[in-house]
Amino acid sequence: MNKEIRAKIIGVGNYYPEKILTNHDLEQMVDTSDEWIITRTGVKERRIAAPGEATSHMAAKAAKEAMKNAQILPSEIDLIIVVTVTPDMNFPSTACFVQQRIKASNAACMDLSAACAGFPYALCVSQALIKSAQYKTILVIAADKLSSITDWKDRNTCVLFGDGAGACILRPTNSNKGVLSVYLGSDGRKADLLYVPGGGSLNPASYRIIDERMQYIKMRGSELFKIAVKKMVDCAHEALKLCKMTTDDIDMLVPHQANIRIIKAVGKRLNLEDKKVFINLEKYGNMSAASTVTALNEAVLKKVIKSDDIVVLSTFGGGLTWGGAVIRW
Ligand code: COA
Repeated sequence: MNKEIRAKIIGVGNYYPEKILTNHDLEQMVDTSDEWIITRTGVKERRIAAPGEATSHMAAKAAKEAMKNAQILPSEIDLIIVVTVTPDMNFPSTACFVQQRIKASNAACMDLSAACAGFPYALCVSQALIKSAQYKTILVIAADKLSSITDWKDRNTCVLFGDGAGACILRPTNSNKGVLSVYLGSDGRKADLLYVPGGGSLNPASYRIIDERMQYIKMRGSELFKIAVKKMVDCAHEALKLCKMTTDDIDMLVPHQANIRIIKAVGKRLNLEDKKVFINLEKYGNMSAASTVTALNEAVLKKVIKSDDIVVLSTFGGGLTWGGAVIRW
């Protein structure tokens, strides 16, 4: 028996809002076409949160599913990490609102911000806290209401994003399963390739911010595209190297779901057959960090990922940030 303690995912849960926004709906809103969106991105439809439905509402629903799946009570959770770029408010943390909603009264709560790459960041923190025995039952939720920061007049971005939440419960294990390695990286010099310039401490909310539409996502898509492919390939390799594995060991790659062309290019460079690359972005678009978690959870719930499979996560996002992880399921 391997005596090393590591974090293991013992239950998962997803939540998507009811409202579906199709490419045909978008044709009525901006100068675009279903054909352009499908060929350039792979997205057919995405979910949009209802008015009054915040990130914490979606996160709490995903968390309840994950707790049910893991067969644990809210009182057993000792840490809640919410990965988000669309918190309910600047403060308190969205994790505190989730705690309120799921009644996890014994938990400490914090948010983590690493944009679309956030899930491996949360796994890294959870792994360290579980290895050091500081925490035993950690709830990680990636949740975003990107519709609240999407410029619905900008065809370059509004076709890409959607809303949703994915949750997982982590516990210590001394078996050979669980999180085998995590590799993270960032490049703050390229922050202006993908960002929301208004609404923070640099450009607080004002009439000018609204007039100039600075509260919305600004993105330089084609520049990001090339870096995304390179970094997602690199971080998969680096995470595998950390646990002395190679791409031959991969049973399933779960990449960030930003664009089908990025995912296909990453799969090809990692020499993976199509069936070893999990894709669900046609139904949801890019939900930031929630994309990777919900994709992983969907693959698990549909039994596409099975016990003992080697699962590799590969993510990239604003910051710039990137992260890979290897999990033995
Ligand atoms: N409908 C129709 N035409 C559109 C359009 C839309 N929704 N959005 C952009 N276009 C047009 C552009 O205006 C441009 O027209 P022009 O050549 O007349 O100027 C043309 O399509 C090509 O634009 P371009 O930006 O070069 O397209 P692309 O092939 O790079 O695809 C993205 C655009 C955004 C889909 C793609 O760049 C992408 O996915 N980038 C990475 C996103 C990412 O990784 N984000 C970070 C991780 S979260």
